[in-house]
Amino acid sequence: MSTVHVFEHPLIQHKLSILRDKTTSVKEFRELVGEIAMLMCFEATRDLPLEDVAVETPVATAHCRRLAGKKLAVVPILRAGLGMVDGMVAMIPSAKVGHIGLYRDPSTLEPVKYYFKMPPDIEEREVIVVDPMLATGGSAIAAVQFLKDAGVRHIRCMHIIAAPEGVQAMQKAHPDVDIFVAALDERLNDHGYIVPGLGDAGDRIFGTK
Ligand code: PRP
Ligand code: URA
Repeated sequence: MSTVHVFEHPLIQHKLSILRDKTTSVKEFRELVGEIAMLMCFEATRDLPLEDVAVETPVATAHCRRLAGKKLAVVPILRAGLGMVDGMVAMIPSAKVGHIGLYRDPSTLEPVKYYFKMPPDIEEREVIVVDPMLATGGSAIAAVQFLKDAGVRHIRCMHIIAAPEGVQAMQKAHPDVDIFVAALDERLNDHGYIVPGLGDAGDRIFGTK
């Protein structure tokens, strides 16, 4: 079974409290999503392997460590996942970015794919899927499946807020995929929204409502 990591870091929790507030402006909301993504990226990459390297400083040889092995890719689920990309690549500038376009059919809540574009060597990369919300889990589960179908073997998911229903569904569908969240909320409402959540992440990032 996969592991669910809930980040209790005070900076993440503080920013999340402002993010949830319905009076927070689009500008501030967008900035906060980026900042939280950056802080979460820091925590979610703790286990990346390092290798020893010798670096010549102007003074002497320093025995240092650098990231080893697999290269990384960040894969946002459109639209709302886009809000997390800048924060992620600020932390991992060499990461490639793939995009998966999905929306939830409002009547069935099933994810519908409208875009899929990956770096050519995506199957060799450690992939971090980003989307602020894990609600029913339908979108993230489908995104992970599309990545697996493309040959990707190492995937982790990062969400700002998750519902227990979404976490359970993801763990059942993809027990090999670890989940990183800033908050695990109470439940979903009848419209598939996370309670208390923060509302519609895409609309709040892009100002479309
Ligand atoms: C939201 C959110 C997730 C999805 C989560 O996207 O950004 O992708 O819902 O719900 P789920 O876990 O039940 O699938 P939405 O479908 O509203 O599209 P948008 O990002 O374009 O606004
Ligand atoms: N998508 C959102 O943007 N918010 C929710 O609460 C659930 C799905």
